[in-house]
Amino acid sequence: MPAPYRYFVLAEFILAALTMAGLRFIVAPYGRHNRPGWGPSIPARLGWLVMEAPASLLVAYFFATGANRASLVPLLLLALWQIHYVHRAFVYPFRLRGGTRMPLAVAAMAFAFNLLNAYVNGMWIGHYGSYPTSWLADPRFLIGVLLFAGGLALNLRSDRILRALRRPGESGYKIPQGGPYRWVSSPNYLGEIVEWLGWALATWSFAGLAFAVYTIANLAPRALANHRWYQSEFPDYPDRKALLPYLW
Ligand SMILES: NC(=O)c1ccc[n+]([C@@H]2O[C@H](COP(=O)([O-])OP(=O)(O)OC[C@H]3O[C@@H](n4cnc5c(N)ncnc54)[C@H](OP(=O)(O)O)[C@@H]3O)[C@@H](O)[C@H]2O)c1
Repeated sequence: MPAPYRYFVLAEFILAALTMAGLRFIVAPYGRHNRPGWGPSIPARLGWLVMEAPASLLVAYFFATGANRASLVPLLLLALWQIHYVHRAFVYPFRLRGGTRMPLAVAAMAFAFNLLNAYVNGMWIGHYGSYPTSWLADPRFLIGVLLFAGGLALNLRSDRILRALRRPGESGYKIPQGGPYRWVSSPNYLGEIVEWLGWALATWSFAGLAFAVYTIANLAPRALANHRWYQSEFPDYPDRKALLPYLW
């Protein structure tokens, strides 16, 4: 693994630490936390499409140019990645309801992160990772894939419940009920975190770990902010945790 690549992986860990520290003081200004003072804005649909597209397209490019491009296990890892990111970049934005906007600065920062993350993870599975076919029977791979699939299912289901709260044209907020919302306020974030922990395990790599750590650093503080927001907006908000059932 060449030195420059290692520095980019290290940079992702450092970015995770900075993100966790920064989000203790600032709530990222998009969605329910959007507020004036963050410069020009763009339609949220466009923001999601543009900022998430590199995670799918660049990983496909790095993979296609790598020595692993015809190897079975890396191809399966690529399939997992693309199941998530083709949906996130090219399906999810078109299902959003509410017609909201997001600051261009937020989209630009997420775009930049996705460039880094696509490089770190795409180069790993396409070029530098070494996965013999026997990895398919390794407990780390098997448990990692199960976690990834379970996290993805939770993330998709939770986002679907949120979407159903608004009729086409509506833009307000309601209390999500049922399913995983019985236990936590942001099960979509919990699903996302479990997914990338599964990815870290299945790839058994610093690249995967860096992304899982970054996802926790980004989404745990936001889950807490969402939870407090629900409690302050809805006096009848049910008793549930922010992110981890029964715990937190
Ligand atoms: N890997 C990462 O680091 C990362 C980072 C960010 C997001 N994500 C993923 O991207 C997806 C979206 O993230 P997000 O932060 O936008 O999630 P979110 O705040 O839960 O919002 C998701 C969607 O549901 C709507 N919504 C949320 N709560 C609602 C309510 N109570 N009533 C009606 N509509 C509601 C939102 O509308 P508004 O936009 O109008 O609020 C938005 O369209 C999630 O699956 C998340 O896991 C991943």
